[in-house]
Amino acid sequence: MIEDIIQISKEAGALIRNAFGKTHSIEFKTNELNLVTETDKASEKLITDFIKKKYPTHGILAEEGSDVNKSSEYLWVIDPLDGTTNFAHGLPIFSVSIGLQKNGETIAGVVYDVMQDIVYAAEKGSGATANSVKIKVSENNNLQHSLLVTGFPYNIKENPDKALERFTTLSKKSRGIRRLGSAAIDFCYVATGVFDGFWEVHLNPWDICAGNLIVEEAGGIVTDFDGKPIDIFTKRILCTNRKIHQMMIEVMKSI
Ligand code: IPD
Ligand code: CA
Ligand code: CA
Repeated sequence: MIEDIIQISKEAGALIRNAFGKTHSIEFKTNELNLVTETDKASEKLITDFIKKKYPTHGILAEEGSDVNKSSEYLWVIDPLDGTTNFAHGLPIFSVSIGLQKNGETIAGVVYDVMQDIVYAAEKGSGATANSVKIKVSENNNLQHSLLVTGFPYNIKENPDKALERFTTLSKKSRGIRRLGSAAIDFCYVATGVFDGFWEVHLNPWDICAGNLIVEEAGGIVTDFDGKPIDIFTKRILCTNRKIHQMMIEVMKSI
């Protein structure tokens, strides 16, 4: 199945690339920071049409509303365009993220970095790759020498779960923090060792599912802020190379 997931991710990516830089019809979702374009919807349709045809009994949970066969043992968890704000503003950092679960466990995940043409892929127990080359997390064990990444939910004006305080505190305790705007790519950059850690509050299942498996298969760890195991519905995500995990937990507890 991983080959199917890679193929459909790349097809959706090609559709997005083709639309990049052109004028978009932008609609607001929960508020005026939360955008959706016709490309998000077209990408989702392409992916879900493929799944419905080839795996008609499988369940689908996708950001723009496709929600079918929830009692199936298989569930496809899909973000058809992760990084819509970047896409709409002409910043070439966005991805397609597709995770596949069997009985609630993620067994395969693909994140396609559209503009860099990099396919990050993982199957449970088989390691993780970037364009078919094995990847692994960094070896850094010093938080002060770490490069971190985070993101903010669309209700940031309400400062949910002290998101701004976490950013301020970790700015002083690390080498630096980046905010790329695609959570799925954030996970993958932890998996390749570019970033030593990533955290965010209020992510959604489609932001987490594929990236979580890719990081774990690259030797990293994903928990909540207390170090407890997560599922795709967890609202506080902490993802690191393992070596700085406990230090990050201590910082999170202090906020
Ligand atoms: C968003 C991106 C962003 C993160 C937001 C997500 P979207 O997804 O992943 O990096 O900070 O929390 O909602 O809306 O572009 O699919
Ligand atoms: Ca997303
Ligand atoms: Ca999205």
